[in-house]
Amino acid sequence: AKAPEMIKVERVGAKKSVALITLNRPKALNALCKQLMAELATSLKELDNDNQVGCIILTGSQRAFAAGADIKEMVDKKFPEVFGGSFLEEWNAVSSTRKPIIAAVNGFALGGGNELAMMCDIIYAGDKAIFGQPEVNIGTIPGAGGTQRWSRFGNKSMAMEVCLTGNKISAQEAKEAGIVSKIFPADKLVEEAIKTGEKISDQSPLIVQMVKEAVNAAYETTLKQGLQEERRLFHATFATNDRKEGMTAFAEKRPPNWTST
Ligand code: CAA
Repeated sequence: AKAPEMIKVERVGAKKSVALITLNRPKALNALCKQLMAELATSLKELDNDNQVGCIILTGSQRAFAAGADIKEMVDKKFPEVFGGSFLEEWNAVSSTRKPIIAAVNGFALGGGNELAMMCDIIYAGDKAIFGQPEVNIGTIPGAGGTQRWSRFGNKSMAMEVCLTGNKISAQEAKEAGIVSKIFPADKLVEEAIKTGEKISDQSPLIVQMVKEAVNAAYETTLKQGLQEERRLFHATFATNDRKEGMTAFAEKRPPNWTST
């Protein structure tokens, strides 16, 4: 396969168990054009199937995580093309990744950039990060989850405010709104994300996937269905050797040895 040009993929952490994907299209502030998103989708698919990798980190530059979908690429598009061709459908590759993804956001996370961050499982922000859904300023609306995920993960009032006004908000405001879990100094952000990534990678990969699936159910189903799914997945852990090993290791006061079986 051709090497990616608009993203950089590295293995990081003491055990090289974390994949670090850096969006790398600096001239356009990492605007998410077709090629970049295709490279990202391919890379996520490969990493999802790579047993050496337990967690994925997605980051940009200090200036921009991503300034949105590529406006210059969209300017001449017409309805039959975007509807008929399911424009942005390929972005679903991010949210359907089964391994955990941590978004490490420095600088601008605007429009599709913020939506991309919200497709990840954890969002860490640098202290100068800026979030927003400015689509309304260019005569369109969020098309990759902005109106939906912001409302479900954060709150309706803030979702309405950012989507209706195009106002940008700070890392602190995004944290208060429930979008971001932690804020770090900009230059420490990626290393902190890697630390968390290593911690996740040290868990049983099998059980980690079940956790991700269960938490996601809270945002995709009713409470009743979500609770049912959680209970079933909890029961399913009893069909694994890793569950037996984890509890045995606790009782024997030793670290567990996961086999992903
Ligand atoms: N698409 C294409 N190019 C973009 C871009 C985007 N979303 N954002 C920035 N760029 C380009 C600029 O055109 C500029 O290129 P040139 O040097 O060739 O002119 C370069 O990146 C640097 O940008 P600026 O000169 O504008 O930098 P700035 O520091 O003055 O401003 C900014 C930064 C506030 C982020 C500003 O670039 C901006 O407002 N960008 C657009 C943000 C936006 O509207 N995003 C939503 C896009 S729509 C969408 O995402 C739909 C969806 O839901 C999926």
